Order: sequence, then C-alpha cells, then structure tokens
Amino acid sequence: MKILAIETSCDETALAILDATGDIESPKFTVLASALNSQIEIHKEYGGVFPAMAKRAHAENIVPLLETCLSEFISESSSNKQDPESNPGRQNDVLEKINWDEIKTILDREPELFAKLETFIKNNPKPDVDLLAVTSGPGLEPALWVGINFARALSVAWSIPLLPINHMEGHIASVLLEQNVAVFPVLALLISGGHTELIHIPEWKSYTKIGQTVDDAIGEAYDKVARLLDLSYPGGPEISKLANNAREAKITIPDEIALPRPMLHSKDFNFSFSGIKTAALYLVQRLKEPTGELSAAQKEAIALEFETAVTEVLCKKLTKAIIEYGTNSIIVGGGVIANTYIRSELQKVAAQEDVAIYFPNKELSTDNAVMIAMAAYLQQFDTDVVVNPTIKAEGNLSLD
Ligand code: KG4
Ligand code: ZN
Repeated sequence: MKILAIETSCDETALAILDATGDIESPKFTVLASALNSQIEIHKEYGGVFPAMAKRAHAENIVPLLETCLSEFISESSSNKQDPESNPGRQNDVLEKINWDEIKTILDREPELFAKLETFIKNNPKPDVDLLAVTSGPGLEPALWVGINFARALSVAWSIPLLPINHMEGHIASVLLEQNVAVFPVLALLISGGHTELIHIPEWKSYTKIGQTVDDAIGEAYDKVARLLDLSYPGGPEISKLANNAREAKITIPDEIALPRPMLHSKDFNFSFSGIKTAALYLVQRLKEPTGELSAAQKEAIALEFETAVTEVLCKKLTKAIIEYGTNSIIVGGGVIANTYIRSELQKVAAQEDVAIYFPNKELSTDNAVMIAMAAYLQQFDTDVVVNPTIKAEGNLSLD
C-alpha cells in the first residue's frame, strides 16, 4: 500500500510517500519520497512558534512541497513513470470527474491555496497512492487546519480515502522505519516541545496514557531555560552543547547552583518541569547580581545541572513504569530525543531493567510526515477508510 501523509501541527510543513507492507505485527516501510520545510528561522525572532505565522507559512509552502514530493515519487517508482503527456486519457478522466465546487468549499478560507492547488491538479497526473493521511492533533489549531483542509481537498480531487492521525501516535510509530518492535507490552516515552507523556501499549492501536507533565513539557523547559541563559531558539540543542562541555570538563556543580527534581518521588507517573525553570530563573537573577551578567562557566554549570535534573526525573519515572506495567520494550519519541545524554541515560535504564529500547533515527525524531504515514498504516487495519471524511483540528487531542 502506498500512503501520502501530511504534517502541519507545529512549525514543520512536511509531506511524505511511503510504501507499506506486512501485517500489523511486522509492518515494513520504504520511504519513496519526502519533503519538509522547517520554519525555525521565522520563529527564532520571537523565541517560540507564532501560530498565525506558522499557518501562513504552511499555506505558502504546502503546494511546492507536494510538487517536490511527487516528482521524487514519480522518478523513484517505476510503476509511476507516466506523465499527463504519456497518458493523457487517464489524466483527462481524472480531471473530468473532479468536483471543483466541493474543493472550493473545503478551501473556503484559503482562496490562494485553492488557486495553487487547482493549477497543480490540472498540470500533474494523479499519483498511484492508495491512502492519504493527515495530522489532526494535538498541535496549533490554525496550523493543523491548513493540513486538514488541504488533505481533504486532495482526497476529493483524486478520490483517494483519507485518515486523520494523532501526531503522538506518529512519534511512537517513528521508530518503525528501520526496526520491528515485536515484544509487547510496550511503554512509550514521548518527549517534545509540547509533550512529556508515558503511554502504555499492550498492542498496536491500543494506547493508555499513564503519566504526563502537569505543567511545562520538557522541551518547553529547555527552551525557556535557554532564554534565561541568552541562548537562541530552539534552546534544546544550545543547552545540550553547554552541558556537554561542562560534562566533558568534569566540573563539580557548586551547591549554590543545585536545581530541584520536581515530583521525583511522587507515587504517580506524572512529571513537572515548571518548578525547575522557576528555580533556574531565581538562580540566574541571583548569580547576575554582582556584574549583571553570567560568566561562560556559570552558564555551562547551569546547563549541566538542568540537564542532569530533568534526565534524572525521566529515568526514575520510566524505571518505575517499566516495573509496574511489566514492560518488555520501550519506544522513545519526540524532538528532545535528539539529546545524546538523555538517550544514553535511557539506554542505561533499559539495560538495567533488561528491556529492549527503540529510538527513531535523527531525521525522524523531530516532526515529519514519514512518521504520520507509518501511524496511518497501523491505523488502517480493521478501519473503514473514506474519501473526504469530516476531520476537526483538535489542539489537545489525546492518545487515549
Ligand atoms: O518534537 P519536536 O520537533 O516538536 C514538538 O512537537 O514539540 O520537539 C521540539 C523540541 C524543542 O523544545 C527543542 O528545544 C527540543 O525538542 N530539542 C532538544 C534537542 N533538540 C531539540 N532538547 C534537548 N536536547 C536536544 N539536543
Ligand atoms: Zn512532535
């Protein structure tokens, strides 16, 4: 089955086409095409993602990205070596059947996007794709709507069924590209800019959230502490660099720089990161008092202490959940897993508890459409898929 997926939940516009085979227990995926535009440069100025700007950038970039993705797909897949000139009959059949009024209604609020899509559909052959998929939440609703409406318009134009996908299921499925997660129950630890969640998975498509942050997400805490240290957005990689320097130099953290480990001993599987951020704020204010600035050494020490504190909490909660739920495999997903220290500490937990651990490759740890296509493949088993389903953007969509 060939799946075309669309992701616009935050600040990445992404499209991908995958070939998926195998049953739900052992799915196999090949990426046939992929195109992605990151808006980091746009949002850097504001120190975070600006929803209205994100929406506009998605609407501007989505047709060009589809173009890139489809030309890669056509040149990759031999069965698709057909263009409108070589098969004008088929293309005319497709065009004749299109209900443009319906598409216009779907893209009612995006007249420019409608015009671009109309031109695109008229000039390009219908691709040999069996299923469309789009992220319907969680995320920024204005951004999600662009992807949803665009996907519904494509679904109508090409008469291809469409499935809404939960972005977090995408992060879970992100590990499946090169490896088969075979031993259930699985525990997923999802750590990103918007989420920190522990999900118990007895089998594919069955998700129970057993813990989550009660305030800030871990990536959000990284970004906020980075701002306190005058580092640029996104802050995760910046803090991580400083923390690595300090770790390599084997510095000892002075007592005055110690940060709390919120909820380390709480009986549940929830997390809290806003207390660490607030403690870091007071710490920075105190350290800045004499000179008005932090020294490079102080910044490195704070980065190291912050990273050590959040990692300790993650590892402790994960260990507790593995034992409580009789977990056999761990999946870790989300942008924060680009962090090599967190990765290696989680690997230690897995080794200690004798469970398998799966990470996505680097490109699939941040938001992308490949993971959405893989989640769609899992979802379509025993599900009726239809052309142009009603889909709502749900900013707070939960996995269970
Ligand atoms: O999953 P993602 O790309 O977007 C969301 O869905 O949120 O995650 C982005 C988050 C940002 O907060 C960023 O600072 C964090 O991931 N991040 C990192 C690292 N690279 C990205 N955090 C810690 N260490 C890193 N190396
Ligand atoms: Zn994400």
